[in-house]
Amino acid sequence: MKVFQHVSDIGDLKVAMQEAFDIKQDRFKYQTLGKNKTALLIFFNNSLRTRLSTQKAAMNLGMNVIVLDVNQGAWKLETERGVVMDGDKSEHLLEAIPVMGSYCDIIGVRSFARFENRQDDYEEKILNQFIKYSGRPVFFMESATVHPLQAFADLITIEEYWKKRSEETNTNGKKPKVVLSWAPHPKALPQAVPNSFAEWMNAADVDFVVTHPEGYELDPQFVGNARVEYDQMKAFEGADFIYAKNWSCPGVTRPEDYGKVLLKDMSWTVDTRHMAVTNNAFFMHCLPVRRNMIVSDDVIESPTSIVIPEAANREISAQVVLKRMLEAL
Ligand code: CP
Repeated sequence: MKVFQHVSDIGDLKVAMQEAFDIKQDRFKYQTLGKNKTALLIFFNNSLRTRLSTQKAAMNLGMNVIVLDVNQGAWKLETERGVVMDGDKSEHLLEAIPVMGSYCDIIGVRSFARFENRQDDYEEKILNQFIKYSGRPVFFMESATVHPLQAFADLITIEEYWKKRSEETNTNGKKPKVVLSWAPHPKALPQAVPNSFAEWMNAADVDFVVTHPEGYELDPQFVGNARVEYDQMKAFEGADFIYAKNWSCPGVTRPEDYGKVLLKDMSWTVDTRHMAVTNNAFFMHCLPVRRNMIVSDDVIESPTSIVIPEAANREISAQVVLKRMLEAL
C-alpha cells in the first residue's frame, strides 16, 4: 500500500478486518518488521489519539518514530506556488516535503480543512503534494476531507460489539443499524470524520442511516447510497449504534455556506430521550467531544458508551496500515 486515504486503499475489507483482529490478539507478532525503518508523523494540527496511537502502533512493529509539530519549532511553511515569499513564511512546502521524505521510510500527515476554498480542501491540495513530492508512502492522519484511521477503528469497534451483542442476545443474523447523527458544536468543524465514517459504513455489512438538519448534506462521493433521514428521532428508532459528530456546512447545496455553522440547535444533542427509542444502542464518538453539546453526561457515561474502546482501537487500525506499508517497501 503506497497511499492510505480511502476504504478502497485497504483492499478486501474482510481480509483487513481479520488482520486487525489477529493483530489485536498479538500486537507484537510483527515486532521485527519495522526494524531500522522510520515513520515520520507530521502534524499541522493538534492531536491526542492520532499522535499516541500511531506512535504506539509503529513501536509495536519495531519502527523508529519522529514526530514533527509544524507549528511548534519548524519554519513557517508557504503552501502556494508562485507566491513572492516576502512575509513571515520562511520555507516552501515544495522543498520541505522532499527533505522530510529523505529522513524516513513512511510519512503520516495531519492537515485539516482550511475552509478558505472548498475546491482546494476537497482536492486535498496539501496531502496530494506529500504524495507527489515526498517519494514515500503516505497515510492520512486526518486531512481536509477524510480520517480513514478513525473510520477503520470505528468499524473494528462496531464488529467487536455487534459480535458480543449477538452472543448475548438473539440478533438472528441481522445487520446492525448504524446511525451517523449530526450534533451541535460552537465552532466550525471539518467534515473529515463523517465523510470517512460514511465511506467505510457504505463498504461494510451494516444498515446505514445518516441524520442531520437540512443544509448539512455530506458530499455525495462519501454519503453514497446511505439513507438520509432529516428527523433525528425517527432515524434513531431501533438503532444498534449511534455515532454522534458535528460537522460544519459541507456546501453541497449552497457552496457559499461551505465551512459555516448554520445552526446550534441543542435539540440535536444526543441525550437519554434520544437513546430511549434505540435498540439499547451503543454510543460512539471519535473524541475529543464537548459534553452537553454533542452528548449528555448521562449518555457518554452510560454502560453502552463505547468511546474508550473505540479510541483504543486506533492503535490497531494504525498498525494494520503501517504493516501493509512496511510490507510494500
Ligand atoms: N479522534 C482523533 O483523531 O483524535 P485526535 O484529534 O486527538 O487525534
